[in-house]
Amino acid sequence: MQHLSGVWGRRGVRIGFVPTMGYLHAGHLSLVKRARQLVGRRGKVVVSIYVNPRQFGPREDFTSYPRDLSRDLRLCRAEKVDAVFAPSDAEMYRDDGEGRFSTYVVEENLSFRMEGASRPTHFRGVTTVVAKLFNIVQPSVAVFGAKDYQQATIVKRMVRDLNFPLEIELAPIYREPDGLAMSSRNRYLAGKTRSRATVLWHAIERIHAALCRNSSALPAAGLKREVKNIVEREPGARLDYVEFFDPNTLEPISHVAHGAHMALAVFIGKTRLIDNSRL
Ligand code: PAJ
Repeated sequence: MQHLSGVWGRRGVRIGFVPTMGYLHAGHLSLVKRARQLVGRRGKVVVSIYVNPRQFGPREDFTSYPRDLSRDLRLCRAEKVDAVFAPSDAEMYRDDGEGRFSTYVVEENLSFRMEGASRPTHFRGVTTVVAKLFNIVQPSVAVFGAKDYQQATIVKRMVRDLNFPLEIELAPIYREPDGLAMSSRNRYLAGKTRSRATVLWHAIERIHAALCRNSSALPAAGLKREVKNIVEREPGARLDYVEFFDPNTLEPISHVAHGAHMALAVFIGKTRLIDNSRL
């Protein structure tokens, strides 16, 4: 992949890159379409498919994470993706005669709240693998989804701080008709748990509506209580966190007005789902 990207780069071909963990859905494909728009017909679109073990905690779903490479390849072919990079763990984290993998990229300001508080080594795994992928694929632009808003903000910061020569494009969240944000993990949901999963979107809508009814800012503490009540009225649902924050710095805010950002994580049974929205 690195060799191919080098050949393309020397010919002046722009590379648009979409990193994924596979089990592709319409949300991923919307990023692929955006990458194509950004680099044009003469550019190249690269998708990576790699379930990165280093961003999963020891008690998380790394082994059960859904995988279907042949289906993913079919979907990529239908989108006219130019190259799919699907490395093995051995290729990504070499453990040979020359020693074990031991270098990490750690973002030290935006990574400790929200997802980082619930999943302590998660973002270190993400920034490390994304840095590796950027060095391998050498894109001019990489497209990330607003579904993982904190992740995209941290990747932007890493690119700025470490002078990666590329742009980061943020693409909107792609939702099911009932509001559930598309996610490979929705595969874990069936029957009642699937319909209960819309509670994340309902909570967001309720906060939107509360802000629309009020011209002044509302205290975050009260809104958090409201979200907790909405979530916990749903059988089998448990709120992991809800946060209201500044969309640029991810700093929590005490009073919430239009333009603020909200994010939440909810367990529906054993499945952990996240969602977020600009308010
Ligand atoms: P994954 O969860 O497969 O997501 C890959 C990309 O698709 C991310 O940028 C994510 O935000 C975006 N995405 C997922 N669901 C979406 C939706 N419903 N609407 C819009 N975009 C959506 O995020 C990862 O993989 C990994 O952490 C990765 C960046 C690949 C590093 O391993």
